[in-house]
Amino acid sequence: MSRSWIYPALLSVTALFGAAYAPQAAAEGDAARGKTLGYTCLGCHGVPNYKSVYPTYSVPMLAGQHPEYIVTALKAYKSGERGHATMHAHAVTLSDQDMQDVAAFLSGSAIKAVAGAAPAGEIPAAVATCSACHGREGIGIMGIYPTLSGQHADYLEHTLEQYRKGGRRNGIMAPFAGQMKEADIKIVAEYYAKQKPALQTVPRRKTVLSAAQ
Ligand code: HEC
Ligand code: HEC
Repeated sequence: MSRSWIYPALLSVTALFGAAYAPQAAAEGDAARGKTLGYTCLGCHGVPNYKSVYPTYSVPMLAGQHPEYIVTALKAYKSGERGHATMHAHAVTLSDQDMQDVAAFLSGSAIKAVAGAAPAGEIPAAVATCSACHGREGIGIMGIYPTLSGQHADYLEHTLEQYRKGGRRNGIMAPFAGQMKEADIKIVAEYYAKQKPALQTVPRRKTVLSAAQ
């Protein structure tokens, strides 16, 4: 193969990938449509400190979460990569477009790290590995990395156990969780839970997004 052939071929692969990727990255969910679709979700995600039972842990907060991550999570419940009966039952009713729209509504707008702000409390050593994706204070550095700051500590602990035990089979997160020392799980979960700006429960009457009103 001559170089002159390889270069144009590589360029066209990049162009194809770019073309396939760009519209998806740019696509914004329709929060107004998502508000109608997301009404049932508020029965759990719109109730402050609502607990799931057997096992008991807090239902995750979604307001301020990255919408891209909300879509990824819903796809994982739909496909079974994440084993959770209730969320699977909800996710299978949603098309990809529905997921984008409901994510735009539930997220409101993604919270961002405040430049120069000091983290709350001492930074545990175990967080060093995690910061590359989740940020030092738990704000996911890209839309596909979940924001953890202000999330319920017991939920974060539960998810880390799930990645370790196989209830969540994500190829990126499972190995990181697997390498954690048991004792660090609680410490790390509590650290992220107290960081700001914090994720919130989705407001039930007045949404955080004026577009949805
Ligand atoms: C009966 C209560 C209930 C309802 C209703 C419900 N959820 Fe959930 N949701 C949960 C629980 C519990 C979890 C945590 C599951 C786990 O452990 O992975 C969860 C997890 C999630 C997550 C993952 C969050 C994260 O940080 O990874 C998303 C996204 C989500 N739900 C969206 C929705 C959407 C969208 C709807 C409506 C179509 C909905 N949920 C309806 C209880 C509920
Ligand atoms: C290379 C990037 C990367 C690194 C490093 C990383 N994570 Fe993650 N993390 C992810 C991704 C991607 C997900 C979403 C996985 C999924 O879809 O289930 C995730 C999910 C999570 C979740 C679940 C959040 C939720 O809302 O359900 C927790 C908790 C978490 N990570 C904690 C950690 C901790 C603690 C560390 C360090 C020991 C760490 N992560 C290191 C990429 C990373």
